[in-house]
Amino acid sequence: MSKTGTFDLASGVGGKIEKKEVLSAFEKYKKYHACDGEAEEERKANYIDMVNKYYDLATSFYEYGWGESFHFAPRWKGESLRESIRRHEHFLALQLGLKQGQKVLDVGCGIGGPLREIARFSGTYVTGINNNEYQVTRGKELNLIAGVDNTCNYVTADFMSMPFADDSFDGIFAIEATCHAPDVFDCYKEIFRVLKPGQCFANYEWCITDFFDPNNANHQRIKREVELGNGLPDIRSMGQCIEALKQAGFEIIWDKDIAIDSPLPWYLPLDKSHFSLGNVRVTVFGRFFTRNMVKILERVGLAPEGSQKVQAILEQAADALVEGGKEGIFTPMYFFLARKPSAN
Ligand SMILES: C[S@@+](CC[C@H](N)C(=O)[O-])C[C@H]1O[C@@H](n2cnc3c(N)ncnc32)[C@H](O)[C@@H]1O
Repeated sequence: MSKTGTFDLASGVGGKIEKKEVLSAFEKYKKYHACDGEAEEERKANYIDMVNKYYDLATSFYEYGWGESFHFAPRWKGESLRESIRRHEHFLALQLGLKQGQKVLDVGCGIGGPLREIARFSGTYVTGINNNEYQVTRGKELNLIAGVDNTCNYVTADFMSMPFADDSFDGIFAIEATCHAPDVFDCYKEIFRVLKPGQCFANYEWCITDFFDPNNANHQRIKREVELGNGLPDIRSMGQCIEALKQAGFEIIWDKDIAIDSPLPWYLPLDKSHFSLGNVRVTVFGRFFTRNMVKILERVGLAPEGSQKVQAILEQAADALVEGGKEGIFTPMYFFLARKPSAN
């Protein structure tokens, strides 16, 4: 059954974490983001624990606010959020030139919204890799509901070390997921390994742009809040990602921050100054309603202790994303298409 109500949201907070442990998991998660070099090293060293805690705590909020696909999209005028998300997913399938019957990998697949859409759209078999067990369980339920469990499946594993043979996939995509990698070169190198020669990897990467000034305290604050509220290590620049791709052995076909071409800003659904009937839950009114519902549900014991705290950092992150977008210092859609050279 689809879980989209406030009660589902509240009862899902914490994912696979024991409900009585949610508050302490939240406190541990927050420690990974303390403002010192030691915390940054801890975040990298313990990335599996850090990212897993984040998604156990945040997934039900994501599903409640965004539906089954946990990513942004360029927005066209007159288009609903769902339509823009679907178009953004189709774009990846078209860029990869996917053909019926091919084997495709979705790196960091969430609860499988994009994976199901791309499998249906292209007629391919899509495997999602995700190290969050709670999301994989949820994704399997949703595959059954959508009747695509014969063409879509999941593997619970770390995308930094994947349980697949070399040269396994005809195409690989990732949507707003490899930003969680503790090391971008190691991550792309592992993707390179499992991709068949001559085939492509398409990615929407979270990056800071050239407008980010490391000496600007406000830019640094925004970046820190985005990292804290999204379970991220240090956010990388577009240049670092391209360099890592080349080092891993890929040929770059093309790359662009496609946020620049979006007629409406990608962050509009999170912008408090904007109201959208199509996506009420993430507007200022929706957030107010949800905040109060979560407060009540936590008080009466239906939501685990700590739920309000989780919601508070997610709200803060949403505001930081809007600020980052408005300042032009951050993009969630640095797109690249890269090919693994053919074996001669
Ligand atoms: C923002 S979500 C995007 C999910 C999905 N691509 C979508 O657009 O709906 C990032 C995803 O990456 C997954 N992830 C993060 N680090 C991972 C790792 N080391 N191995 C596998 N999955 C990971 C998270 O569990 C989460 O599902």
